[in-house]
Amino acid sequence: MSFYVTTPIYYVNAAPHLGHAYTTIAADVMARHMRQRGEDVFFLTGTDEHGEPVAQAAEREGVTPQELADRNAERFQALMPRLEASNDFFIRTSDPRHEKRVQEVLTAVYEAGHVYKGVYEGWYCPRCADFKTEAEAGPDHTCPIHGIPLDWEREENWFFRLSTFQEPLEKLLAEDSDFVQPRERRNEARAFVAQGLQDISLTRARLRWGIPVPWDEGQVFYVWFDALLNYYTALAFARDGHDATPEFWPASYHLIGKDILKFHTIFWPAMLMAAGIELPEHVFVHGFLLGGDGRKMSKSLGNVLDPFQVIDELGTDALRFYLLRDVAFGEDGATSMDAVRSRYETELANELGNLASRTTNMVRRYRDGQVPEVELDAALAADFAGLSGRVGELVGRASLTAALEEIWQRVRRLNRYVEEQAPWQLAKDPERAADLDRALASLAEGVRVVGLHLLAYMPSAMSRLLEAMGERGQELRDFGAGGGGGSVQQLEPLFPKR
Ligand code: MSP
Repeated sequence: MSFYVTTPIYYVNAAPHLGHAYTTIAADVMARHMRQRGEDVFFLTGTDEHGEPVAQAAEREGVTPQELADRNAERFQALMPRLEASNDFFIRTSDPRHEKRVQEVLTAVYEAGHVYKGVYEGWYCPRCADFKTEAEAGPDHTCPIHGIPLDWEREENWFFRLSTFQEPLEKLLAEDSDFVQPRERRNEARAFVAQGLQDISLTRARLRWGIPVPWDEGQVFYVWFDALLNYYTALAFARDGHDATPEFWPASYHLIGKDILKFHTIFWPAMLMAAGIELPEHVFVHGFLLGGDGRKMSKSLGNVLDPFQVIDELGTDALRFYLLRDVAFGEDGATSMDAVRSRYETELANELGNLASRTTNMVRRYRDGQVPEVELDAALAADFAGLSGRVGELVGRASLTAALEEIWQRVRRLNRYVEEQAPWQLAKDPERAADLDRALASLAEGVRVVGLHLLAYMPSAMSRLLEAMGERGQELRDFGAGGGGGSVQQLEPLFPKR
């Protein structure tokens, strides 16, 4: 089976920030988890380099748009290893291979009769690169997202007949469909369609920084269609020497933030239908990370959580864990450095870190580092029953926080198990050697299973843990399915106290 997950491609007019790290980490957890399940995975991320936002930022800085794109794309590329993102490719929309393929797809849409020439007249936000309807515009025709005055635009463009897709979109977003998740977001998309769809500009006449329209060289494609198509075009050239489209298209999951819902749940499927391309399976819409005060993060409010500060102080695993643990994936939530430190200490250092060091230390002290090959504790096994199926089901529908909670309940269960069994007491009584064997073997097995399930969330710390625990493979498995035995090595603290 194949699994294809994407992040939005990031605008190169700004530096990487927490919002970018967030979607990337979430997609990475899904990709890693699916690889552990033996799926053939493709994970795509990249940069959105055309359009007005980039052209204007370049002008402000006195460089060409391509220079600005080159410089900032590099910063986004450098972000990936710092987040431990295991993306299979990084697409840049100024790549000529992308440009050529966009021209091919949109020419097919034109030839199929879905495009006509008309005059666009209306409100436009150059920062969003979005045409706003009267209902969307803020007070006094300002952008509801950026607060800046909208521009009244009038130009001759090519239009995409979005209106003809009214019915197919209603069907796609119907009550029983899981195309858009979570459900409230699906309802938002439905409400937009229910207002009645209007045709939209497919091209821009005044802008130069974009992909030329093959049948009208004076125009470039509207940046959103150029950008959305990245999910499809990348597969054609991401794998050297062969076109991976047949293996991975349609995409399994597009992960996006709630601000770009309209583009991904309405414009994108309509464009694919027009091009005769199969639709992606799911779009998962996550919420916004807010400042510690619950307000939108902004430099002037001083409430911004800096992902690089978290990484420098507590490590990448801590950032990844925190973002998916503290804010339910799909909802909005406050973030702060204090909250990161608190999760780090209470959960990572005290709960998981201590469990790992106690387990390795006790197996080493009482059994010379050899995990006893004995029958495992039935009560503990019962509390682990079905874990991998449950976590798989949750991660499989992007419920990343719920899946993490399932795993964490087992971390807590293991800590209680240590207290209940008190192996240090058993060790004092030679007649209870069999009980000690069972307790240590069960504990070691529990820690291995928990480590395997947490590997996608915290790849660095969990690889160290699994290695020390003598776990050979990385495949997800249930408690008791690993064969037991093996030897345990000394483990440096996974989450050292700061
Ligand atoms: N270039 C477009 C996407 C094109 S995809 C075909 C774009 N880029 S962006 O860089 O502005 O935003 C990328 C993602 O970051 C979006 O999904 C957005 O929701 C997310 N975030 C930006 N700030 C955010 C938070 N404060 N919290 C969570 N995610 C947010 O839009």
